[in-house]
Amino acid sequence: DWIMQNHIEEAVQNIRAQVGDEEVILGLSGGVDSSVAAALIHRAIGEQLTCVFVDHGLLRLHEGDMVMEMFAGKLHAKVVRVDASELFLRELAGVSDPEQKRKIIGRLFVDVFKAEAEKLKAARPGSKGAQWLAQGTIYPDVIESGGAKSKKAVTIKSHHNVGGLPEQLGLKLLEPLRDLFKDEVRELGVALGLPHDMVYRHPFPGPGLGVRILGEVKKEYAELLRRADAIFIEELRSTIEPHSGKSWYDLTSQAFAVFLPVKSVGVMGDARTYDWVVALRAVQTSDFMTADWAELPYALLKKVSSRIINEVRGINRVTYDVSSKPPATIEWE
Ligand code: XMP
Repeated sequence: DWIMQNHIEEAVQNIRAQVGDEEVILGLSGGVDSSVAAALIHRAIGEQLTCVFVDHGLLRLHEGDMVMEMFAGKLHAKVVRVDASELFLRELAGVSDPEQKRKIIGRLFVDVFKAEAEKLKAARPGSKGAQWLAQGTIYPDVIESGGAKSKKAVTIKSHHNVGGLPEQLGLKLLEPLRDLFKDEVRELGVALGLPHDMVYRHPFPGPGLGVRILGEVKKEYAELLRRADAIFIEELRSTIEPHSGKSWYDLTSQAFAVFLPVKSVGVMGDARTYDWVVALRAVQTSDFMTADWAELPYALLKKVSSRIINEVRGINRVTYDVSSKPPATIEWE
């Protein structure tokens, strides 16, 4: 609408005034905030923006291709895709403590991003390289960093601003979404032409599947989990709740599969199986501080379970998590 177009125009003018003819780099994660920030900054300064998309190997199925198709393909933004999955898996080998895993993932993320920023600079001798680091910080992040409420909040924050990265890189910080609430960021994203499904996605934690594979992270586990999770999400999106006319994806705040490093006995045809277990998690919440487990229809759970067991060889049992927060958390780690 007209008001939104005015907002965009004003934001674009502000970005141009701030940046001038200098260059900007931005870490694209596929999440709503960094995506909307990228689309807005690209609208303002086009080729002066370079997005760096670090694939840590712990993303959802086809996530990397989707991000590339959207930003490089449709928006024609400059995007560098870095496949760092081998590095992340190597450094995570043998580590099973959740906070330790978070720390390793956060540190490697910073290292890879920094190395990429330096490479970009070295690739063009004579150019000053990027002077600005753009981040999709939104208003609630600004408030949260004023006084972190819990240890977890500190962790979440430190991952979000990738640990003092602007200072480490000697870059100025560009945060065009700083004054916006989440719903405003989403409206802005739609107005900038991002697909509805991308803008209204469930949140996904920075450490990704790293905290949804319990204990030690292995490539094999990540591959099984990605496929199970994709089936769950696909069925949530395609199952409409008749009274509201909305999909179960839109009726839940966050939903995903969790890999349990536990084997259980099953039977397939006339053979015995001894395979892995996944748990499905779906919650409804307004603030993610408290959350209820979602009362998904049995028919939906039944379909998801039978699809996962039939389609994902290596998983022979699916469970549904009926724990609310508190005392459980939304994630399992
Ligand atoms: P919990 O599990 O604490 O999660 O109930 C609350 C919300 O925070 C997300 N979450 C994270 N996000 N880095 C993130 O970027 C993290 O380390 C992290 N841990 C939890 C979680 O997905 C949920 O939306």
